[in-house]
Amino acid sequence: MDIRHQLKKATGVVIGCTVIFGGISHAQDPGPAGAEAVHAKNIAPVDTAAVSPRPEGSIYMGGFRAPKIECVRVAVIGLGERGIPQTSHFLSIPHCEVVAVCDLHDDATKRVADRVEKRTGKRPAEYSKDPQAYKKMLAEVKPDAVIINTPWETHAQMAIDAMEAGAHAFVEVPLALTLEDLWRVVDTSERTQKHCMMLENCNYGRNELMFLNMVRKGLIGELLHGEAAYIHELRMQMFSENRGCGSWRTNHYAARNGNLYPTHGLGPVAQYMNLARGEDSFDRIVSFGSPAKGRAAYAKKHFAPDHKWNKLEFKCGDMSNSLIKTKLGRTILVQWDETSPRPYDRKNLIQGTQGTLADYPLRVAGERISPGASDSPEKGQPGGAEITSEGGYHEWYEGKEAESKLYAMYDHPLYKRLGEEARKNGGHGGMDYIMLYRVIECLHNGEPMDQNVYEGAFWSAVGPLSEKSVNEGGAPQIFPDFTRGDWKNTTPLPIIP
Ligand SMILES: NC(=O)c1ccc[n+]([C@@H]2O[C@H](COP(=O)([O-])OP(=O)(O)OC[C@H]3O[C@@H](n4cnc5c(N)ncnc54)[C@H](O)[C@@H]3O)[C@@H](O)[C@H]2O)c1
Repeated sequence: MDIRHQLKKATGVVIGCTVIFGGISHAQDPGPAGAEAVHAKNIAPVDTAAVSPRPEGSIYMGGFRAPKIECVRVAVIGLGERGIPQTSHFLSIPHCEVVAVCDLHDDATKRVADRVEKRTGKRPAEYSKDPQAYKKMLAEVKPDAVIINTPWETHAQMAIDAMEAGAHAFVEVPLALTLEDLWRVVDTSERTQKHCMMLENCNYGRNELMFLNMVRKGLIGELLHGEAAYIHELRMQMFSENRGCGSWRTNHYAARNGNLYPTHGLGPVAQYMNLARGEDSFDRIVSFGSPAKGRAAYAKKHFAPDHKWNKLEFKCGDMSNSLIKTKLGRTILVQWDETSPRPYDRKNLIQGTQGTLADYPLRVAGERISPGASDSPEKGQPGGAEITSEGGYHEWYEGKEAESKLYAMYDHPLYKRLGEEARKNGGHGGMDYIMLYRVIECLHNGEPMDQNVYEGAFWSAVGPLSEKSVNEGGAPQIFPDFTRGDWKNTTPLPIIP
């Protein structure tokens, strides 16, 4: 019996759409038992590397081109902190219209529909109140693309339902919480031949795009090592007690132990290394967590002794550390900490045989990129105009002047094309706008997505695999090959002009 059904039978409260929709009345509050079910699934003794053959009639989706869509009809599910700004971006992007919006709360749906109508003169269809209303929306509106901005535990099933209903699915991070659900998403995409892209916006950050451009020019030689993180103190979300992100996310910190949010730092590093794209792929991972202290202390300090947060036993180590080994033997450190009082950091570090690029703050060093030297083009080098050839790599090249020079020399062409409009529209410094612009541009032109379904699956798999590794004292876990060997024939993401 599926673990969700077992848990429904035992507790009547289960995480994951299948049961949330059949069971509890308030999907915003899956409850610790729900998150615990996910944790139980992720630490179960399964062969993580097991891969079944691709079913007949299904196709590999890496590099998939869908028929061009003149004007993409977009439907949005989830209109909370993320869904509201995401919907607004579509109003400034050509070749699309927002045709439907859906949220549990009708005040959210109305507010967003009002905004769309005010800006475009056309009111989108509204669906709300029922956790299953989105299915009605899919059937009635038949959108081309569905944007999913709901709590983590609902992502996989909503993406699957969207694809089954004939839409391309675009899913907030992470794509799914268990390996089983990641496989279900991959298999559905291959069977329905619909795109399923996880919306990793950080791959569209100015510095991430610039590093991709620099790496592709060969400026740091052969790649060896990356560092990726999501370090963002978010304890204040616990004040969203009944509605909003903290109301559901807090339960995950209590019930699970691993890296619960791995993709913001990892996505860009994986694309620098061409992981699952022809050159290299994910092999194994080991994980350790620090003690879990911060959430309980925060709950004790800010909430009454009988408050629901003070009844939770927080399992998740405040700082999660994972080390990934790739098939070529490269290493990637992946860290996650949303609890400790320290500055924001995604690391964004990529190291090669000839240099290193890093962020927070932006800084570079290397045999061909270092301080104190001229910026004249170096003859015969693949990158052309390196900042130096003097090898002053014992110090970082950093600071305001370095930053301007780096941007002037190496800004990614996509950023040069869309950066100004992106800055006007906002959204994490413009990265959200560029990402959604590319989603529509690719659908309109019938181009492959910048992030294929397998990349979303590999990056998200760090969640369940880290949980299993932590539970087994740091034992290595093998990544399933979601591409079933086809990563070898997948082209690297080009430098999009
Ligand atoms: N990429 C980023 O930078 C970024 C930033 C913030 C959040 N996120 C992700 O976005 C997602 C949403 O986060 P958020 O902060 O907006 O959370 P939120 O709680 O503010 O919003 C979620 C919304 O989903 C709605 N919802 C829940 N179940 C639903 C259902 N069955 N049908 C329709 N609507 C439903 C809720 O009513 C709520 O309005 C999460 O996956 C989060 O990790 C990503």
